[in-house]
Amino acid sequence: VRPPAHCPVVIVGAGPAGLVLARILGLHGIESVVLERRSHDHVLARARAGIVEQPVADLLDELGAGDRLRREGLVHEGVSFRFGERTCRIDFAETVGRHVVVYSQQDIVADLLDLHAAVGTPVVFGAEVTSIDDFEDGPPRVRVLVDGHEAVIGCDLVVCADGTHGVSETALQGRRALLRRIYRRSWLGVLVDAAPAADELLYSRHRDGFALMSMRGAHRTRLYLEVPASTCLDDWSDDRIWTELHRRLDGDGLVLNEGDVLERGLTPLASSIDQRMRYGRLLLVGDAAHVVPPTGAKGLNCAIGDAVVAARAIREFRCRGEEALATYTSMASARIWGAQRFSWQMTTMFHQVDTDPYERELRLRQLEHVTSSAEAMADLARQYTGLDLADRWDA
Ligand code: FAD
Ligand code: DHB
Repeated sequence: VRPPAHCPVVIVGAGPAGLVLARILGLHGIESVVLERRSHDHVLARARAGIVEQPVADLLDELGAGDRLRREGLVHEGVSFRFGERTCRIDFAETVGRHVVVYSQQDIVADLLDLHAAVGTPVVFGAEVTSIDDFEDGPPRVRVLVDGHEAVIGCDLVVCADGTHGVSETALQGRRALLRRIYRRSWLGVLVDAAPAADELLYSRHRDGFALMSMRGAHRTRLYLEVPASTCLDDWSDDRIWTELHRRLDGDGLVLNEGDVLERGLTPLASSIDQRMRYGRLLLVGDAAHVVPPTGAKGLNCAIGDAVVAARAIREFRCRGEEALATYTSMASARIWGAQRFSWQMTTMFHQVDTDPYERELRLRQLEHVTSSAEAMADLARQYTGLDLADRWDA
């Protein structure tokens, strides 16, 4: 696929946000092109998130991209929290009648790409957007490098779904209204060729640092360890990783199953949010606009939630012109701040290294509080299984 000279909507980035947006626009008869700097194979090989909120799984179904998720995704009706000597299960089904689906982000991206190929949405791989011009006061022009050749695409609107450190960061340099928090911790994540030791996720607060047991299907365990942000992957032999994982996760009848480490990676914990998600005719969606630490499993879900709101703004823009874009940020922000708050709460409750004794105690009390009553557990379950989408894609 070659980039066109003109397209009404240019979407930068073939991650979950960009691909869902292109699909909704397509269903409304609005033409778009998705430009992705990486190759098709690279995009499908990137291991990332794995927890899909119920409203997001339902949305993927409605968009025609949910068949495999329904067949292969694992429906989880609860989660366990371990702290001190206690393991407490929060029952989503019983408290709020909801669930999450464990299904990898790569698979969601693969399903959306298959759908786009079937319906003929242009998705251009190996297409690096190098600059975006004129978006503040007129129709934007997007410069893109494909196979060493530069092309310029004229458009009515550009949507940056380009994740962190994408081209929007450069295009908006010095203009952004960013709020940030950097945590001095990272997660070391491994994918292991072994059956999960339990049917549901286990989040563990441990004096040596947080740990999480998750899964990808019946035969793969996904595990995470809290580590200092300065750590180097080379310092983590398989033996060291397993020792730490067993120390922080085994107990209460659970013993992790070991297996070959198939993948490993580091994710720094950080929060950031741009208080403006629209700059003239440039809209930001997903990680390009905001990032959360992974503890609440909200990054992927938020990115897809934004796509629904952006699609609505674009439809109204086509009827009413630029003034219709003015409400985009405020429409998206309630759900985004909900996710920021929940991710902050989960992160502070479970991570305690590098905090003073008072703060450590407070965080423990917070964990005790959220597991102390049916009401508190229902509140947590409601947020974990999915904040309502701000809008319906087909309304
Ligand atoms: P992305 O998925 O990042 O997609 C952006 C796309 O834009 C990329 O494909 C990129 O190649 C492309 N792009 C960038 N610049 C350009 C350019 N100039 N031209 C063309 N294309 C460009 N969230 C969780 O909830 N739980 C987790 O466990 C978790 N783990 C993570 C681990 C890692 C290593 C990372 C990076 C993220 C993780 N996240 C996790 C966050 C979650 O994956 C993101 O929130 C989600 O990917 C956001 O989707 P997006 O579509 O906004 O951006
Ligand atoms: C996974 C990632 C998360 O950030 C989380 O909170 C739960 C599960 C996962 O990759 O499976």
